[in-house]
Amino acid sequence: MLDLKTTYAEKFVAKDELEAYAAAHAAVLERCQAGEERYADSQGWLDVDEWAGEEILSRTERLAEKIRAIADTFVIIGVGGSNNSARAVIKALAPKGARIVYAGNTLSAYELNRVIGELEGHDVVIDCIAKNFETLEPGSSFRLLRQYLVDRYGVEEAARRIVCTGTIGSPLDDLCQAEGYTFVPFATNVGGRYTALTEVHLLPLAVAGADIRALAAGAKEMQGICRGVTGVSNSAWRYACMRNILWDRGYRVELLGFFEPRFRWFSKWWEQLFAESEGKDGRGIFPSSLECSEEMHSLGQYAQDGTHQLFETFIDLLNPGEGDSLVLGGTDVADAFDYLDGKDFWDINKASFAATRAAHAEVLPVMTLELGQLDAEHMGMMFYWFAFACYLSGELLGVNPFDQPGVEAYKRLMFKALGK
Ligand code: PA5
Repeated sequence: MLDLKTTYAEKFVAKDELEAYAAAHAAVLERCQAGEERYADSQGWLDVDEWAGEEILSRTERLAEKIRAIADTFVIIGVGGSNNSARAVIKALAPKGARIVYAGNTLSAYELNRVIGELEGHDVVIDCIAKNFETLEPGSSFRLLRQYLVDRYGVEEAARRIVCTGTIGSPLDDLCQAEGYTFVPFATNVGGRYTALTEVHLLPLAVAGADIRALAAGAKEMQGICRGVTGVSNSAWRYACMRNILWDRGYRVELLGFFEPRFRWFSKWWEQLFAESEGKDGRGIFPSSLECSEEMHSLGQYAQDGTHQLFETFIDLLNPGEGDSLVLGGTDVADAFDYLDGKDFWDINKASFAATRAAHAEVLPVMTLELGQLDAEHMGMMFYWFAFACYLSGELLGVNPFDQPGVEAYKRLMFKALGK
């Protein structure tokens, strides 16, 4: 179950105002639900079955099994869209398969030394995930770790331990063919940050032991809702309309708030999705996050009392799962916390959330994304729902949600500085 509640924003955007805005822009929802010819090379993700259907799921599971037979540690070498989705799920659900190490997302010598340290004493397979194989972080990490494997295992065994996920016909594909590395095709018609439901992430997730079938099933359920439901009953459409009404009113920052730190890496995925999709042509809401309750003691002050340019979307995890209960017992010491005797931290945390939302809703618009459970199925739902909402929101804003010209500009300057 996933739904968006806007009750706590009604003080700022009345229900009938939201309905009127949605009705006035209904053509946007319709054309996004159908998919657009002009974005045909970026919209493969709209149909979950295209890149996470039975055939791909089965071949991914088979390859993951082969990898786990020779490795207890799997290194994801990728950055941005080639890293964030898998990391979001692994960090949130802590599946019990191979240990995952992240590389290819930094140029810091200290971090890369730490990565190498983490490989010592473990059986390792690496996966270089790079759509165009030009990006500096994954390219340099791949070279470093490839050499590490060769030194440690010899050329032949190292080749057995190298997987690359890249574009067919790209230099990475050529390299794999020349060196005998396993090659996994990068979804041709899906841009980096929209690849959650493709082999780019399904493979590392399967190696990590996550349930990729549940992930795909959740995304597919959301596909039915996002692409099938018309008008404001469509929760992704409500979210996109709210964001753009608020943008028109001068709101410039959105905080994704959550009271389960397990969403920390999901929020990084979300930030990338919206920042790269909407932040262009001098437009776009700046996406940031609010990790509660810790950041109620830092950013929370600004949210409550600072410039009122920001609004919030809280993820509300409705039902506790395994490990979500811990009762606080009594104590012999007079510590002035007796009012907590016998209370479950789950409920204490919920009380903190309810109070935060009520206080913030007095001064800024607050939306709530209700999520039934925290599991692979629901993460699949969130990936699809936010991706579709981002597409809708970008269209309402009048930007191309599938390119990232700013990122390309910085890369050009960096390559020049490094003498490429
Ligand atoms: O969304 C995007 O396209 C980007 O964030 C890319 O995922 C990121 O720049 C990594 O690109 P590549 O896989 O080509 O190294």
